[in-house]
Amino acid sequence: MASLTIRKLDDAVKTYLRLRSAKNRRSVEEEVRVILRELIEGREEPLTPFSAPPAVSTAPTPQRTGALPEASVTLIIGGGIAAYKSLDLIRRLKERRVEVRCVLTKAAQQFVTPLAVSALSHERVYTDLFDPQSEFDAGHIRLARDCDLIVVAPATADLLAKMANGHADDLASAILLATNRKVLLAPAMNPLMWSNAATRRNVAQLQRDGVVLIGPNSGEMAEAGEAGIGRMSEAIEIAKAAERLLRPPVPKPLAGKRMLITAGPTHEPIDPVRYIANRSSGKQGFAIAAAAQAAGAEVILVSGPVDLDDPAGVTVKHVESARQMLEQVQAALPADIAIFAAAVADWRVANEGEQKLKKTAAGMPPLQLVENPDILATISKLTDKRPPLVIGFAAETEHLIDNAKSKLARKGCDWIVANDVSPATGVMGGDRNTVHLLSRKNGGKDGEIAVDSWPVMTKEQVAIELVAHVARSVTGKSRETAS
Ligand SMILES: Cc1cc2nc3c(=O)[nH]c(=O)nc-3n(C[C@H](O)[C@H](O)[C@H](O)COP(=O)(O)O)c2cc1C
Repeated sequence: MASLTIRKLDDAVKTYLRLRSAKNRRSVEEEVRVILRELIEGREEPLTPFSAPPAVSTAPTPQRTGALPEASVTLIIGGGIAAYKSLDLIRRLKERRVEVRCVLTKAAQQFVTPLAVSALSHERVYTDLFDPQSEFDAGHIRLARDCDLIVVAPATADLLAKMANGHADDLASAILLATNRKVLLAPAMNPLMWSNAATRRNVAQLQRDGVVLIGPNSGEMAEAGEAGIGRMSEAIEIAKAAERLLRPPVPKPLAGKRMLITAGPTHEPIDPVRYIANRSSGKQGFAIAAAAQAAGAEVILVSGPVDLDDPAGVTVKHVESARQMLEQVQAALPADIAIFAAAVADWRVANEGEQKLKKTAAGMPPLQLVENPDILATISKLTDKRPPLVIGFAAETEHLIDNAKSKLARKGCDWIVANDVSPATGVMGGDRNTVHLLSRKNGGKDGEIAVDSWPVMTKEQVAIELVAHVARSVTGKSRETAS
């Protein structure tokens, strides 16, 4: 099968693919390829909406032996002296985990051999448009589209002219005409060929067509005594330019922002060996910390006792009780954004035993409970160090939206993320979450509250969406301009 176009995907699958590819920093198409490969290798569960890997896993990431390439390039080598540099370019691309399939023009074979190119790319080399071996399934179309990028190096004056004018009389030009992929050209030619009015016109046309050029550089030519603009860029420069097109730098909308996040349960001691706790796993808060860090924020995560690895690049403060959590939260201020995802115990034991409580004939020891500090309300009501955006979580088992609305009003925070944690949902300790984002309309002036209900997602996806909302809010961008 040469290629596959899938139409009529339903919205849930589209959202899944969009979020998963964003998380893995791949194009959606590449992500689909990875999913299919994983299915064939039996390493992944069959694709169902939102069945992505757990938000935060304590298991070590499985290491692939002979890791699969993350991107693929069709490299067209034109007939110029600089073709020898393309042998090095193949190596440079492969060391960046890019699969390279090479096409040699007839002229290119005067400068480098298909054998050398094949040995370096570990692939067969394509030279002929009318090749029965590869054309039985429209091989030239496959080379044009079954890749993430087309690189032409060296791009001869002749190839530039053919491309600018839409010729397709050999394999290289037919691929360039049939592709819908980005094209990167690395021109190489004599300075007079480069400055010739015909080449100028062709280059201008190609730039208008959206083709990307790297070089040429200025320097000595192969021809004795000639110098000027026309030297092909070095292999490393071309590989880096290809990488920028294959894996564009991920935007960091929260760069320069300090974000405070709480996660997990708290443990409230009864005596030195017993405590009161809840079923919070900390997965949602940890996923938010990881997503915020990926968005460029400086993240301080204050976590109750959990069985999770600290997210990379995040400062984590480990605490046990609600009072310790409040202490660490206060110590972490000032912050630009605070997200309180921890399930803080409402009460603690007033008469905590200094020694392990013993069974006695007098019956059960009475446990007196007192209220814990309310971390969300305390920080929301600060006058001096209140973070400009304070977000609370409302874990409810009934009347979810009504309870969340009154929590938003009572606590004085800006947004509430409400989630149903009744046992049937499996949210507590599970990997998925169904949340509703409540915020004050018009900054709360008219007392109205907006409710945005999200579909069921993994906790990691919820984290990415929430961080995207935060980024839009703090950078003042609308959904359209921020995404
Ligand atoms: C020794 C030699 C070196 C050449 N070097 C270049 C070059 O660097 N750039 C270029 O555009 N053409 C160069 N040419 C001319 C091309 O090989 C010629 O235009 C050929 O038709 C290009 O074919 P292609 O574009 O299909 O590869 C050179 C020719 C010879 C004989």
